[in-house]
Amino acid sequence: MSKPEILMPKAMRDIVLNGLEARFTLHKPYEAADGGEAISASSAGVRGLAVLGTRIDAAYLDKFPYLEIVSNFGVGYDNIDAEACGARGIMVTNTPDVLTEEVADTAIGLLIMTVRELSAAERWLRDGNWSGKGPFPLTKASLKDRTLGIVGLGRIGKAIASRAEAFGLKVHYHGRNQQAGVTYPYHATLKGLAETVDTLMLVAPGGDETRHMINAEILKALGPTGILINIGRGTVVDELALIDALSNGTIHAAGLDVFENEPHVPEALMALPNAVLLPHVGSASVSTRDAMGQLVVDNLVSWFETGKAITPVAE
Ligand code: DGY
Repeated sequence: MSKPEILMPKAMRDIVLNGLEARFTLHKPYEAADGGEAISASSAGVRGLAVLGTRIDAAYLDKFPYLEIVSNFGVGYDNIDAEACGARGIMVTNTPDVLTEEVADTAIGLLIMTVRELSAAERWLRDGNWSGKGPFPLTKASLKDRTLGIVGLGRIGKAIASRAEAFGLKVHYHGRNQQAGVTYPYHATLKGLAETVDTLMLVAPGGDETRHMINAEILKALGPTGILINIGRGTVVDELALIDALSNGTIHAAGLDVFENEPHVPEALMALPNAVLLPHVGSASVSTRDAMGQLVVDNLVSWFETGKAITPVAE
């Protein structure tokens, strides 16, 4: 029996490449002379996609009449039009759980870097200021006694919450619904949360529903001692409103691992001393990225062997 055909629009880690090549007939359009711009007619029989960041919309799906499954590398799948997939009966999978601890660790690291201005302090040392100008200026903020408002208390949000509690922070949260069994104070509105806490931690997924939910009004509600951390998706924050709020003291500081138009980061944000900026490294360790890659492969293998996916996205 011939092997199912899988198409991988962009190169992925060896664990994905080798895993797919061992079990499937793999199409790698990115190796073509045109960089894979045109998906060739020979790919028409493709039954599965292994995707890293590629925008999969209705027009893309229409190229593959036999497509059954889209296996996404990443827990966030805002690159995929899940509704268009659903309408065509196409399964969508992502890579939850295996990255939870890594992303939560990065979130707490970014929070501490931002509150205690650690990257600026390191630059101060490396630039030779310590011996010349003396000690790095005292930071206005401390971690102690802060109240953390988590926006999106899913698996990663909960892992961040338990770490934050260990550091002595109080935790509140906002989401679509209050969660049964969760004892952290719940705020039905984002504005209510922002008015109550002094630190916002964004773990919200991207997509239309969350686009620019952090705007000028929410930043004003967070206030001049406020700190914003974004570990979810850049589109959740209105970047221009944030630049404005950081420039004029509406909030104290921000730590960002994600941006609206990655890998583009606005010059105005780069120039701000009260912004800590990371290049989307939340899950970026070898072991976690390998675990995510293995799950991309395992979802496809499971689908074609048993008709069931391991981690279908929750709709
Ligand atoms: C995810 O899994 O969605 C992360 O953002 C990937 O880095």
